[in-house]
Amino acid sequence: MKLFKLSKKALLLVTAMGAMCSSYTLAATEIKVSFNQSDKHPQYQALQQFGEQLTKATDGRYKVSVFPNELLGDQRASLELVQNGAIQMAVVANPLVENYDKTFAVLGIPYVYANTAHQKKVFTSGILDDLFASTQKFGFEVLTAYTAGARSLYTKDAPIKTKAELKGKKIRVLQSDTMIKMLSCMGGTGVPMNQGEVYTAIQQGVLDGAENNEITYADLKQYEVAPYFSRTGHLRVADLLVVSDMFLSTMTPQDQATLKKLAKESTKTEFELWNAQIKKAEELAKEKGATFVEVDTTEFQQSCQSLQEELIKTPAQKALYEKIIALK
Ligand code: GCU
Repeated sequence: MKLFKLSKKALLLVTAMGAMCSSYTLAATEIKVSFNQSDKHPQYQALQQFGEQLTKATDGRYKVSVFPNELLGDQRASLELVQNGAIQMAVVANPLVENYDKTFAVLGIPYVYANTAHQKKVFTSGILDDLFASTQKFGFEVLTAYTAGARSLYTKDAPIKTKAELKGKKIRVLQSDTMIKMLSCMGGTGVPMNQGEVYTAIQQGVLDGAENNEITYADLKQYEVAPYFSRTGHLRVADLLVVSDMFLSTMTPQDQATLKKLAKESTKTEFELWNAQIKKAEELAKEKGATFVEVDTTEFQQSCQSLQEELIKTPAQKALYEKIIALK
């Protein structure tokens, strides 16, 4: 019996040592990804899948941890953390990268994509590869683009169907010049603000509303404070998956290539997850009391034409615009 007791203890010891050794040899490098929405969001789910594939493809050398709900900071702060290597990756809306290089503005020109399918072609055709690699000089690279659907206006007190109805209304926009100009050409006033503050700002009356896609509207429960969703579909702002250059340089060329390839492939997954969730998001918002209003967008499109022209000035912007249009 004594012998049994001893061997059981020994067994426990061996097991503990084994666990220590294997966790030592298997210690994976963690890739922290900053994300500003919830773990229900299609992009979060696509990133989880990307992480699993990367771990598998690198025999466990890398492990992806996605931090949702701005846990690692808002998008602007996250991009800076990626730049200085404090975190490895983040999802940031295109306008934030546009602040570094105005060529990116072309990706967010009002009404530039005919529909989701056109946008998918643009994101997966390779025409953006050079632009995405060109941000190396800022300390980060864009790995791929994700869809974030079409953005529409939503407001606190009444729906918005015309330019006149938007007059004097303070609408939260993403932090870039183009987004502020976009709201002016539509007839309102754009207030740049980080996403995490939007709900309270509408609730407290600092804003009259915001503009975003149906998934974000539902995911962040903004229907509670702005129940009129007016389908202006004025913008299809891409979200960009960015990676720290400092971090990339610690990887072998082969692991870098694997990471880049899998990140690109995650775009297709993200589009599928997006398409599967979009209707449900709208239904959920309706169940919670939101009213969806259809809008004739002709007036908004016409009055934003000058902004389109302003965003296609440099040779690089023109070349990119033509490539996008050619895929229509
Ligand atoms: C969309 C987009 C986010 C962005 C958000 C915003 O939801 O997917 O990346 O942060 O809009 O307006 O802040």
